[in-house]
Amino acid sequence: MNEKEIIELEDKIMANTFSKRQRVITRGKGALVWDINGNEYIDCMGSYGVSIVGHCHPKVVEAVHRQVEKLIACHASFYNDARSEMLKKLSSIAPKGLGSIFVSNSGAEAVECAIKLARKYSGKTDIIAMVGAFHGKTMGALSATWKKKYREPFMPLVPGFKHVPPNNLEKVREAITDKTAAVIVEPVRGEGGVLVPSDDFLPGLREICDEKDVLLIFDEVQTGFGRTGKVFACEHWNVVPDVMCLAKSVAGGLPMGATFAREDVMAAFQRGEHSSTFSGNPLVCAAASAAIDVLVEERLPERAATLGGYFKGKLEDLAEKYKIVREVRGLGLMLGMEMRFDVYNILLGCLDRGVLVLDAGRNVVRFLPPLVIEKEQIDRVIGVLDEVIGKENR
Ligand SMILES: Cc1ncc(COP(=O)(O)O)c(C=O)c1O
Repeated sequence: MNEKEIIELEDKIMANTFSKRQRVITRGKGALVWDINGNEYIDCMGSYGVSIVGHCHPKVVEAVHRQVEKLIACHASFYNDARSEMLKKLSSIAPKGLGSIFVSNSGAEAVECAIKLARKYSGKTDIIAMVGAFHGKTMGALSATWKKKYREPFMPLVPGFKHVPPNNLEKVREAITDKTAAVIVEPVRGEGGVLVPSDDFLPGLREICDEKDVLLIFDEVQTGFGRTGKVFACEHWNVVPDVMCLAKSVAGGLPMGATFAREDVMAAFQRGEHSSTFSGNPLVCAAASAAIDVLVEERLPERAATLGGYFKGKLEDLAEKYKIVREVRGLGLMLGMEMRFDVYNILLGCLDRGVLVLDAGRNVVRFLPPLVIEKEQIDRVIGVLDEVIGKENR
């Protein structure tokens, strides 16, 4: 099929739930992708934060090749070598104390598991989430998600969810009742605008949850796996949650979610109370093992910290230069640039000049590049942004 046929076919048959960019991407390597016409793009979307180890990392490719010849499917009612290898590696990078893992297939599923687990462990129903939060779009995860646009068409959602403003410990304290099972929070808010919390917020939440006997759930679906300059963002504040969600990047680009929990918390699930047919699929597990090896061997969190600092500095230079840039923020290679207007034209301008960037709400340009991105590629991205923002600034 040619470009036009592919676009027409997807538009006709695929559910119309994604805002499409008019490019057919067919190939990727490291921080680069190519379209069907051979045009090259620097990928600062990283497939919405998935491609942390880069596109088609040779170690992931090799692990998938090896496993695909051996065994593709194996239900978790049997033991499996690829799965146990992956679990060993994943627990070796997990925050201390989170010794038990439920493996699923996506971020929303990792959150669903956390919500069910909180209810089951505590025997209570209610969950406190943050204003502006994004936790996914399945019914439970959506109930924790803030945005009206996502929620309202699907009312009524799961009962018992309440939203409080972030960075406001008093409001959290006031919202907790004897029905509260857990507080859920993204350590750095992603989709809701790339917002780093105030220094006391996450440690304060930990204290309140301990005091009130409420579980603390961190949604590290976007922040996890080295993205912010630590393996998990919670390490920036030395706070360990009771339950933690991870997905996006963990299997090097293949679909996988993981819910980590304290062993005594996960033990609340009885057999059959939570499962998924694909949980711990061997092919995905082989990819995840390779991705974890790459994360550790290539010191990707350190790389995210260093290159993130460099990238952020360059974005700040642009903010100095152009008054339409309101603020630059973020941690590691999870960066946002808030503009004084809708960023749609900036996304398109970048796309036309060979750079893929994301939005985060109406007026924030978001950068989630692979952590293997090169400094020289960041310079090229900055050059393109300079040109595109310069045009808009006139
Ligand atoms: C913090 C967070 N939680 C959950 C999700 C949902 O993940 P998925 O799209 O894999 O269901 C996302 C996706 O962007 C996310 O950023």
